[in-house]
Amino acid sequence: MTNRQHKLPVNVVVNGVRHEVHVDPRLALVDFLREDLELTGTNVGCRTGDCGACTVSVDGDVVKSCLSLAVSADGSEIRTIEGFAGEGEELSPIQTAFWNEFGFQCGYCLPGMLFCTEELLDENPDPNEAEIRHAIDGNLCRCTGYHGIVRSVKAAASARPCASRCAPAPAPE
Ligand code: FES
Ligand code: FES
Repeated sequence: MTNRQHKLPVNVVVNGVRHEVHVDPRLALVDFLREDLELTGTNVGCRTGDCGACTVSVDGDVVKSCLSLAVSADGSEIRTIEGFAGEGEELSPIQTAFWNEFGFQCGYCLPGMLFCTEELLDENPDPNEAEIRHAIDGNLCRCTGYHGIVRSVKAAASARPCASRCAPAPAPE
C-alpha cells in the first residue's frame, strides 16, 4: 500500500490560490499551512489553543489553526497573514495602524492580533478599551506590549471608513 492511500484529499483556497493536495488525516491545519504550503507567517506557540500565534481566517471566522485538522478545512477559503492585505496593498490599514503605533515588537503574536482586530472592527467599528482588550485576550504577546497593541487597535478603528460611529444624527422630529 502506498503512502498516498493513507492520505485524504484537501481542496482549499488559501490567499486566493487554490490547492488540491493529499494529507495525513491527523495533520494540524497550522502544519499544513507552514509545511505543505510554506506559509510560515502563521506561527506555532503552544499548540494548545492558548497563545493565538497560529491564528488564521477560515471562511471569515478567526480560527486557531493548531486546534483544527487540515482535512476539516476541505472546501474552505483561508486567509493567512501573507494574504492579510488586499491585492496590490503592501500593508492593510490595520497593519499600517499597528506599524505607526508600535503595536508589535518581535511580531510573533501579530497575525493573531491583526485577525482579531479585523473581526472586532467588522462587528464593532468604535470599540472602547475594555472591548478591545476582550477581543484580543486569546492572544499572548510574549513582549507584553499590550499598551501599544491597544493603541494600534484604536488607531485602526479611527482610520477605517466611517461606519456606525459616523452615522448622521437622526433628524429632529
Ligand atoms: S499555537 Fe495555536 S493557540 Fe498557540
Ligand atoms: S510582539 Fe512579540 S510576542 Fe507579540
